[in-house]
Amino acid sequence: MSSEKTFKLDGKTISYQDGDTVMDAALRAGEYIPHLCHNPEFTPHGSCRVCVVEVNGRHISACTLPAAENIKVDNSSDAITELRRSLLQMLFVEGNHVCPGCEKSGACQLQAVAYYTGMLSPHFTHFFPRRSVDASHPDIAIDFNRCILCELCVRASRDVDNKNIFSISGRGLSSHLVINSATGKLGDSELSARDKAVSVCPVGAILPKHVGYDQPIGKRLYDTKPISVVGDVASAANPTKTINGHDKDRYEP
Ligand code: SF4
Ligand code: FES
Repeated sequence: MSSEKTFKLDGKTISYQDGDTVMDAALRAGEYIPHLCHNPEFTPHGSCRVCVVEVNGRHISACTLPAAENIKVDNSSDAITELRRSLLQMLFVEGNHVCPGCEKSGACQLQAVAYYTGMLSPHFTHFFPRRSVDASHPDIAIDFNRCILCELCVRASRDVDNKNIFSISGRGLSSHLVINSATGKLGDSELSARDKAVSVCPVGAILPKHVGYDQPIGKRLYDTKPISVVGDVASAANPTKTINGHDKDRYEP
């Protein structure tokens, strides 16, 4: 008798192993659950809620939900898609995301997930927060207007680069990303363009300099195939060779 453990995702049978989340098992099976703060290389964070699914009438984040025998997970009903669209619309109005003028356009997970869920307008009133841009580092710029507080750079810098350059400060609406350097400036930190923290940002907040528009609009990561096929920014761009899709060898080690 088979000891395989399974659950249902939109009626499809998904196998899982002990310790898997619904997200882990779904992605391994080739089933896409939209996500932003989740990246399979890091421990789940559960903050953006874009991966919301319905199980037994409850809305739960798939990236933190342990897979369990025979649960029925709704990942794609109209109601779930509508809920995700609202969450994405809130992310868009909370920051200043001006896609046509952003160097990450076409290679941005927030934009790609918005297209995937059929978001056509921001719907809510824009907050238009006043946030800064830090271009003090010779090789990297950070535009806080586009930060969605996913903490992927925090996790990557701490867990992979062993540098702890980024932190979140404040609570609730006043939460914001800070740079751990004497002046609070990126240029006074030990961040290198080759750091994992630079290639993992899912939006256009952390950007490498000197390579702007090297990749023409129309030929970028999500320009020809949807994010459900391409996957995350870091995994799709092969972080051992590229920074946001650009050649890492342009930067000194
Ligand atoms: Fe996430 Fe990018 Fe903001 Fe870091 S800078 S928290 S990776 S959106
Ligand atoms: Fe699950 Fe962000 S991807 S909460």
